[in-house]
Amino acid sequence: MKPEEVLASIESAAPGRGWPIIGPKRGMILDDVIREHRPARILEVGTNVGYSAIRMARHLKAGEKVTCVEISEEIAALARSNFAKAGVSDRVDVVVGDALHVLPTLGGSFDMVFLDAVKVDYLAYLKSVERLLHKGSVVVADNVKSFGSEMKPYLDYVRRSGAYSSAYREAPPNWGMGAGDAVEISVRL
Ligand SMILES: C[S@@+](CC[C@H](N)C(=O)[O-])C[C@H]1O[C@@H](n2cnc3c(N)ncnc32)[C@H](O)[C@@H]1O
Repeated sequence: MKPEEVLASIESAAPGRGWPIIGPKRGMILDDVIREHRPARILEVGTNVGYSAIRMARHLKAGEKVTCVEISEEIAALARSNFAKAGVSDRVDVVVGDALHVLPTLGGSFDMVFLDAVKVDYLAYLKSVERLLHKGSVVVADNVKSFGSEMKPYLDYVRRSGAYSSAYREAPPNWGMGAGDAVEISVRL
């Protein structure tokens, strides 16, 4: 299947199955970030069934990679199966474990980080991978409108520490209901 067909099938199943995916509206913002920054090494914190990872991996070339961290072995198995269906398994690595324990063990460097696991832990996630970022690395945080108060320490840090140039981007609801949500896009200075 084409990646877009797998994305469409996850989108149609997600509301019924309760999969908390970024969805098509904010997914388009992720696409924009990838087109603008052309990251070759991406870290995703919170993968669920692989929707956002497929969305990002389909833009990558051979040898480029998304490293996915997901706490649930059962959900990670669904993600792996979706990666195989979408033909992107060669561009995705899955690490199963609690991001708070996994991130400090990672090496290498990342051009992009996508934060989408436990909202109150975003700042801890960022601090534990900051040593792997470089000038120009871009960090995207999801759900900053719906979980704005839980993420206040994170948002204060990326907006006011002077270490990032940070912007808020809002999108309408994915399935025509609710208030929509937003992502924060922060570029390391
Ligand atoms: C919002 S979903 C991710 C959605 C995915 N990024 C997408 O848009 O397709 C959050 C995921 O984070 C996982 N998660 C929760 N706590 C975690 C932790 N401490 N470490 C890693 N993953 C975690 C959950 O199991 C869930 O699958």
